[in-house]
Amino acid sequence: MSPPLAAPLLAADGLTRSFQGLVAVDGLSFQVAPHTIHALIGPNGAGKTTLFNLVSGLLPPSGGSLHFQGRDITGLGAHRRAALGMGRTFQNLRMFGGMTVLENVLTGRHARLPATWLATLLRLPAARAEERAAIARAEALLARVGLAGQAGRPAGELSYGEQRRLEIARALAGEPALLLLDEPAAGMNPTETAELAALLRQLAAERRTILLVEHDMGFVMGLCDRVTVLNFGRRIAEGTPAEVRADPAVVDAYLGARVARRLMAAAEGAA
Ligand SMILES: Nc1ncnc2c1ncn2[C@@H]1O[C@H](COP(=O)(O)OP(=O)(O)OP(=O)(O)O)[C@@H](O)[C@H]1O
Ligand SMILES: [Mg+2]
Repeated sequence: MSPPLAAPLLAADGLTRSFQGLVAVDGLSFQVAPHTIHALIGPNGAGKTTLFNLVSGLLPPSGGSLHFQGRDITGLGAHRRAALGMGRTFQNLRMFGGMTVLENVLTGRHARLPATWLATLLRLPAARAEERAAIARAEALLARVGLAGQAGRPAGELSYGEQRRLEIARALAGEPALLLLDEPAAGMNPTETAELAALLRQLAAERRTILLVEHDMGFVMGLCDRVTVLNFGRRIAEGTPAEVRADPAVVDAYLGARVARRLMAAAEGAA
């Protein structure tokens, strides 16, 4: 007998989102098992970021439902979902460039901080101790993502790859059970990408769950336990990296997208 399947950490059922008639996510159902690294791949415009926005609560769905840790979260906003244990990064970086690296990480803690802003303002001893603990934890997270010693720098001075890692530290500051990473390896050099893969493996070993969108197929195939493939907002394949790589529907989707891009480029060149 095969072992019973763990209850999913995240489950989408018939999730749908349209933008003025364009159905970006189209009746999508899929599940993320706890303590796994799960990739979401697909050609440009497939609906990956839209799905992330639906999962993290930045966008309301036009239809369908979402469950997190067995609880229906379909109607909850982004802050409530963060407090329940979701953290995310963005495809287009959302750093506070004028703030220091450390301050950026601290902004990721607000979902979890128990002290009121007033107490912080009045500098009550409990709030001060909490702040010290938060700073120590933020510094430890910076060390984890390879940014030790950079805490005092303005975030805007970091390289693109460093800013991506800073975003991961900020997301981790909320102590999420589910970490959503939208193209975490984009703009990274091969050394940074390998370090990122090692970090994500460690996080999964520490019983975090990671759902990531990524175009770097070497990274996805070498790292992830499971891969869901989207095209035109629908799930066209799912399985282990080896299963998905061998799936003709996946090959067709990527080939189709590549041909379409070449035709567009040729048309623009001719114009
Ligand atoms: N706010 C919006 N308003 C209108 N259309 C949108 C909006 N957000 C996304 N779309 C459209 O929805 C579709 C899916 O976009 P999405 O950004 O989710 O794709 P993606 O898979 O993340 O692509 P990429 O790999 O290029 O990041 C695209 O056709 C896009 O133009
Ligand atoms: Mg995207």
